[in-house]
Amino acid sequence: MPSPFEVRPARDVDRRPLALLFAAVAEERDGIATEPPIDLESRAASWTLDGTTVAASGAEIVGSVHLDSSPHGFGEIGMAVAREWRGRGVGSALLEAAIEDARARGLHKVILSVFAHNAAALALYRKYGFVEEGRRVKQYRRTSGELWDTIEMGLLL
Ligand SMILES: CC(C)(COP(=O)(O)OP(=O)(O)OC[C@H]1O[C@@H](n2cnc3c(N)ncnc32)[C@H](O)[C@@H]1OP(=O)(O)O)[C@@H](O)C(=O)NCCC(=O)NCCS
Repeated sequence: MPSPFEVRPARDVDRRPLALLFAAVAEERDGIATEPPIDLESRAASWTLDGTTVAASGAEIVGSVHLDSSPHGFGEIGMAVAREWRGRGVGSALLEAAIEDARARGLHKVILSVFAHNAAALALYRKYGFVEEGRRVKQYRRTSGELWDTIEMGLLL
């Protein structure tokens, strides 16, 4: 039976769990741009709660998505799910919530950047209708020295 989780707007009490989740995903050095080290205290304190939706299982934050709304009608999202919770629909539930949030804010478009090798994220975004709009070549220099491409995606609402 799938483990239950709740999708809801982030609250002040979520700051540290959000920072911990972010740091754990950064440790993977794979899906998100940020790499360790991460200052948990400053990350928690500076987290922008407005536009953040979390997936919570009890007191644990198992996933989050942030919608950064621009004044130009589009919003950019970034998201992560705790490794042990992947493949159970958390990412889908969060992405649905973020798209709903974007509509509620009157935005006309949602955009995102994803590393070109990130098959799980690309599949998730395609499932919700995002289309590839371009590729940024050797955009991100990693601490390993590797240069990674990103795929730019967009969803017109
Ligand atoms: C990308 C990510 C958010 C997906 O979250 P998730 O909770 O595993 O997603 P879901 O379980 O809802 O799966 C959604 C879809 O993604 C696809 N998918 C998930 N895992 C996959 C995998 N390992 N390979 C290929 N496709 C995969 C499937 O199409 C799936 O839809 P389906 O179940 O209807 O077939 C998660 O893997 C993650 O946090 N990765 C690390 C951080 C990251 O890459 N963030 C995104 C940066 S752009």
